[in-house]
Amino acid sequence: MEDDSSSKRPVVKLLGLQTPLLRLRSLGKVLGFDGIPVYLKYEGVNPTGTHKDRAARAHVARAVELGMDTITVGTCGNYGVAISYFARQAGLRSVVFVPKSYENSRVEEMKRYGARVVFVDGSYEEAVELSSRAARANGWYDANPGTPSDEVSFEAYSAIAGEIVSELGDAPYAVAVPVGNGTTLAGIYLGFLRAYREGEATRIPRLIAGTTALGNQIAASWRRGSVEPVTMSWSKVKETPVNEPLVAYKSLSAAEALEALVATKGRVYEFSDEELVEMAMLLRVFERVSSLPASASSVLALKSFLSLEEVDGPLVAVITGRWRRIKH
Ligand SMILES: Cc1ncc(COP(=O)(O)O)c(C=O)c1O
Repeated sequence: MEDDSSSKRPVVKLLGLQTPLLRLRSLGKVLGFDGIPVYLKYEGVNPTGTHKDRAARAHVARAVELGMDTITVGTCGNYGVAISYFARQAGLRSVVFVPKSYENSRVEEMKRYGARVVFVDGSYEEAVELSSRAARANGWYDANPGTPSDEVSFEAYSAIAGEIVSELGDAPYAVAVPVGNGTTLAGIYLGFLRAYREGEATRIPRLIAGTTALGNQIAASWRRGSVEPVTMSWSKVKETPVNEPLVAYKSLSAAEALEALVATKGRVYEFSDEELVEMAMLLRVFERVSSLPASASSVLALKSFLSLEEVDGPLVAVITGRWRRIKH
């Protein structure tokens, strides 16, 4: 029988990673959210601690469907751990390209899950480029953002929106998301758009991006009022152990994220490392929620948004990771 698998729509398994929606209590009062229901969509409970598990799981499922035996990514940490974790579960080999400067505890985890780690003498963007090149040369599955397989990531992250709608019974007024490449935000937008079109929600929320003040292409484009990604150079960004998931001179899903921000009358807010760390501490002390400082940018973004805008309904901040030791 002829194998027609390449013409089939990918069957991406998205079930089983439902994360909790936590109502903000004491911290809401401290931050001035009084009277407005604010929720945390807490992605820290995923198996390796971040929302990247959703995309990784979907890519691994796709690679298995395509009959491939090796999957590769370029990463600074979280995505690489997620890919190696799910690859091991599915019996695939994983090859993870990591910038040399990122020899941290997440690299140990990748190795523990059986990944082959290739250190790259360059930036995150260069690690992604080398990984994609290796995929083309060796016939490996390319799970990098900014490649045709991005659709799989968008689809995986769209489930975050579906879960929020089903739990609240409708879409909230606004949803804040930590933004680096913009893949997560673009995927969440897709989910809300679908829920609205299918009659499960009466509106599409305003999408609010929280990112680093030390360099992000989506923020730079937004600041200049450009709906197209503006060109940035590596010298314009300052990467630190705190802002590493958010800093990007090339945000690999910038076009899709900017489109989502424009379509939803969104906003973009930028924060210093000190603000990110402080908000993660506040979440820990007041809400007992362990969040990666970079991901606390979503709560900071909601606070900035509320200080400038009238809101009409609940607000949600997507917390994309749990606290781990930051090596300086
Ligand atoms: C924990 C965490 N939050 C947020 C982001 C940003 O997501 P995106 O690159 O899809 O914008 C990342 C990216 O690596 C991340 O690891």
